[in-house]
Amino acid sequence: MVSLTTAEQAMLDGEQGAATAKAMNLLIRYAEALGAERFVETNNVAGVPGSSTPWIKEYYKADGGDYRAIFSRFDLDSDEVVDVPRMNAFSCHLQGGMDPELWREQGMTEAQHANFAYDEGQVAAHGIQVMKTCTPYLAGNVPVMGEHCAWMESSAVVFCNSVIGGRTNCEGRESTSAAMLTKRIPDWGFHRDDFRYGRHAVRVEVPVDDIFEWGMLGYFTGDAVQDTIPVLDGAIGAPSLIRHKHFGAAAASSGGVEMYHMVGITPEAPSAERAFGGGKAEEVFVYDAAARARTYERLNAVGDSRDVDFVMLGCPHYSIEQIAQAAHLIEGRSVSASSALWIFTSRAVKATADASGFTRILERAGARLMTDTCSSISQAVPPGTRVAALDSAKQVHYLPAIMGIEGWYGTTAECIDAACTGRWAGRLAA
Ligand code: F3S
Repeated sequence: MVSLTTAEQAMLDGEQGAATAKAMNLLIRYAEALGAERFVETNNVAGVPGSSTPWIKEYYKADGGDYRAIFSRFDLDSDEVVDVPRMNAFSCHLQGGMDPELWREQGMTEAQHANFAYDEGQVAAHGIQVMKTCTPYLAGNVPVMGEHCAWMESSAVVFCNSVIGGRTNCEGRESTSAAMLTKRIPDWGFHRDDFRYGRHAVRVEVPVDDIFEWGMLGYFTGDAVQDTIPVLDGAIGAPSLIRHKHFGAAAASSGGVEMYHMVGITPEAPSAERAFGGGKAEEVFVYDAAARARTYERLNAVGDSRDVDFVMLGCPHYSIEQIAQAAHLIEGRSVSASSALWIFTSRAVKATADASGFTRILERAGARLMTDTCSSISQAVPPGTRVAALDSAKQVHYLPAIMGIEGWYGTTAECIDAACTGRWAGRLAA
């Protein structure tokens, strides 16, 4: 049975209005299902509050089919429609369904765009930051070590827990929307010290030193440990934000990794002993040349034709460093007439890319720098796409399956070469 503080009881009793009472009610049901005994306070919530597609609005037509109806009935699981106040917690909106300007190129209709613009206006009016990205930590939302957060988006969650030392479970739209109003989330899972220790060991025996290699190691790790916490040690070179970003996203795709430790690298793993909390690894997995080769083959298992008609970069959303690298690689060249290059990032990072001249270089070469979404989320690829090239293990895991297309996994340079030649010249083996 979850125990409530005086302030939480008051919220449940309606002192802060009907929507907050509904939110508290939902969180109590959630906490009881988890077996949590109390709540923690959070002032950092990332979700998709009240946003919905036209068909969801149609489903709630009898309730009014507007933002208020969706937030009440869908987000808060309320049996009635209530007024939705401004959010109480620091809240941000994660990725959305289309680029705010290039939506026509993404194949969206006027009606879909009108729905998107309406929702976005409502999100802003309710005091929610319109970040529209899966990388809020690159757009102004950077938690601190030990901070209790309530985040959705698996790649952001694993980054928050592992790289920053923030504390969040992989939440859903209901719990994040309720947390935005109440500033509460169940004290369970990654909020608690004893949940954050490693269970499995991964010994890295081959050099892992760029995002391509970190992505492969992440994909291997997720597949090996599934949803437990791995402790990695060995030949892991030159950690950086973007390498962690690609490692974590991949590990959260092939498995359900929500936190990892790298000995001597991540903040809660100054030693293997500390990472395991004094315990022992239940199992040790070895990432050697053979395991690396198998991982490469798996990631390229859905590639057959070498005629590449679409290159997508920016999963998770590209950092400014990655956009600069892409601009450098393509400057003076052009995207092939038989291909297309779309790069995804956040609006915040794109503003820097615009000011730095990178957007102009990319556009001059025929590429598109898009924000808010990605091809998997929006199911948007150029018309007629049959074969994609990707530098993200997460995206190659999802996009070919979602769109029924072929996909190649390679380095950023190999992908940009494919965009400029229309041919995949990536290696045949790892
Ligand atoms: Fe982001 Fe889309 Fe990848 S939302 S993590 S770019 S699947």
